[in-house]
Amino acid sequence: MTYRELYQSSLDDPIEYWRKASENVSWSRPYDEVNQGDRWFVGGRLNTCYNAVDRHVENGRAEQAALIYDSPVTGQKERITYRQLQERVARFAGALRTLGVKKGDRVLIYMPMTPEAVISMLACARLGAVHSVVFGGFASQELAVRIDDARPRVVVSASCGIEGQRIVEYQPLLHQAIELSQHKPSACVVLQRPQHPCELTPGRDIEWKEAERDIEPAECVEVEANDPLYILYTSGTTGKPKGVVRDNGGHAVALTWSMEHVYGMKPGEVFWAASDIGWAVGHSYITYAPLFFGCTSLIHEGKPIGTPDAGNFWRIISEHQVRTLFTAPTAMRAIKQADPEGDFLTPYDTSCLRALFLAGERLDPDTYHWSKGLLGCPVIDHWWQTETGWPVASNLLGVEMVPVKPGSPAHPVPGYVVEILDDEGNRLPPEKDGSVVLKRPLPPGCFTTLWEDEERYQSSYFERFPDYYFTGDGGYIDEDGYLFIMGRIDDVIIVSGHNLSTGSIEEAVSGHPDVAECAVFGVQDPLRTQLPVGLVVLKAGVSRTNAEVIAEIVARVRETVGPVANFRKVEVVERLPKTRSGKILRSALRKLADGVPFKTPSTIEDPAVLDEAKSALQKLGYAPEKPTL
Ligand code: COA
Ligand code: AMP
Repeated sequence: MTYRELYQSSLDDPIEYWRKASENVSWSRPYDEVNQGDRWFVGGRLNTCYNAVDRHVENGRAEQAALIYDSPVTGQKERITYRQLQERVARFAGALRTLGVKKGDRVLIYMPMTPEAVISMLACARLGAVHSVVFGGFASQELAVRIDDARPRVVVSASCGIEGQRIVEYQPLLHQAIELSQHKPSACVVLQRPQHPCELTPGRDIEWKEAERDIEPAECVEVEANDPLYILYTSGTTGKPKGVVRDNGGHAVALTWSMEHVYGMKPGEVFWAASDIGWAVGHSYITYAPLFFGCTSLIHEGKPIGTPDAGNFWRIISEHQVRTLFTAPTAMRAIKQADPEGDFLTPYDTSCLRALFLAGERLDPDTYHWSKGLLGCPVIDHWWQTETGWPVASNLLGVEMVPVKPGSPAHPVPGYVVEILDDEGNRLPPEKDGSVVLKRPLPPGCFTTLWEDEERYQSSYFERFPDYYFTGDGGYIDEDGYLFIMGRIDDVIIVSGHNLSTGSIEEAVSGHPDVAECAVFGVQDPLRTQLPVGLVVLKAGVSRTNAEVIAEIVARVRETVGPVANFRKVEVVERLPKTRSGKILRSALRKLADGVPFKTPSTIEDPAVLDEAKSALQKLGYAPEKPTL
């Protein structure tokens, strides 16, 4: 079947299309209806962990590796079979159950990239509990906000993470977050790592091994297809993150389908998503999809460069016979910067690699060509979001590779209808730039609500254009039906493939006692796609030097939001450019910084303020001299 035929069949009869796909999932009770609005497989009962682990043990994959852990930062490597994974997950699920975790309870996971991170997620799924993984690069304030929103009964964490040469002590961050939050979890399970064991807080913390002592393994608990599997927080336009909720049934169906059709995988092969379990990519393509499909998933604790060098990815691919690598364009740009000629690839045989998939940010044509030239296999740009949980647009390796247009993730994946609308909600013709939207209902696997905030779910995503899901991305579709995603049209920025909210950075900056007001916005960066930049106005009477205050602001963001914000570029200004009604002109600041011509907004209070902002941005190395229109 061609891509066109398959895509058309998914639109002509979506019910039959997804019914057929659902046959690859094991249900303990058949569903009553395939679709009901935003809900899929209504009435069906299943267990996600059973689908990811137990059924493979029963069906002949017991001795196959389910996980391969390769950690260049600790020198550890481990192969975990499906049988061993089942034992470890059931034991840890038993430990969580003993700590009072039951179906529907939340468990917050704040872990480095270790097998135990994946085991904790699966253990929650086994119990029907709802996990909420928080990326290790977020610090205490961000963690506290998530603890208060999800109200976890238990937190699972580790004594430390390892970032290249740097030990990240998780315990002080977690401790501070629990101090800051209103909600207090009843227990924290802590994985003690030999690289940096930590002190436990009596009465609250329990060591992982201790929690598992004399434990009765837990069996899989059946849930309804639409019961929540997890909450994953993603950046919103305000400082408060959005708790994306994923169901169990649609998720299992869509992810299983994607492994065959999008990624062209076969059960038994090795799949490597070089991401982190703290992101949607990690949830879908480190933990769940490869296991649903009976593949081996590779867990990597390291970086594309510096652990120890730009050959790290190539060593792992050849050593573990990786068939598909999935990472962010930033990772390839980092390798390209460190090793432009690809010399670090030479010692390794990477002929096992069938394809490189890239997502998380725009794949610029240069990076596409460089990666393709280096690896000699298909390089596939695909576009998706935390909210969708799996690709919306992609070349389908398992169906048909259509000709590549660098800069485009090709066509919509079956199940998705992508359109481009103008501000009034009219459909735009080919080549015209506008808001990228998806027609409702979204296919299985996409988010079903925001955690305990249905109102924000509706208002953020469905109010602007009724009948459509608003992606927050801008772009166009060309004459040949290729989609081009040009970037966010809201206050979300993409830094090293990580989606961050300028709002939360602004909150941290404004919390500094000397700051009167501030604007944080994203500027273009050749390696990281975007970087956040801040302009701050200080309160009258601040006697310390600007340099001192700036250093404190930078440290404050690192300590509260986390190092992942990459927030280092700050300058002090007298005033911020605003409209007459007092709204800060962030979009004008962004264009000014990037040297993109723009029209001075007619609503501006005082155009001279833009000149001040320009000089401040030039001090930071931005705002090249270019005439404004
Ligand atoms: N725990 C604690 N700190 C973390 C962290 C974690 N899990 N992840 C990142 N950080 C820290 C980093 O150590 C760095 O700290 P520093 O300021 O002291 O150097 C900071 O957060 C910024 O991290 P990052 O932007 O990732 O920069 P980096 O220099 O460590 O790595 C890349 C740069 C390009 C190699 C890396 O970002 C990368 O591999 N990106 C691909 C991203 C990806 O996989 N995205 C997921 C979507 S597919
Ligand atoms: P996240 O929710 O963190 O996965 O980030 C989703 C956002 O990343 C999207 O809304 C896009 O802005 C961006 N993005 C992801 N994949 C791509 C891609 N292939 N091309 C362009 N932008 C992308």
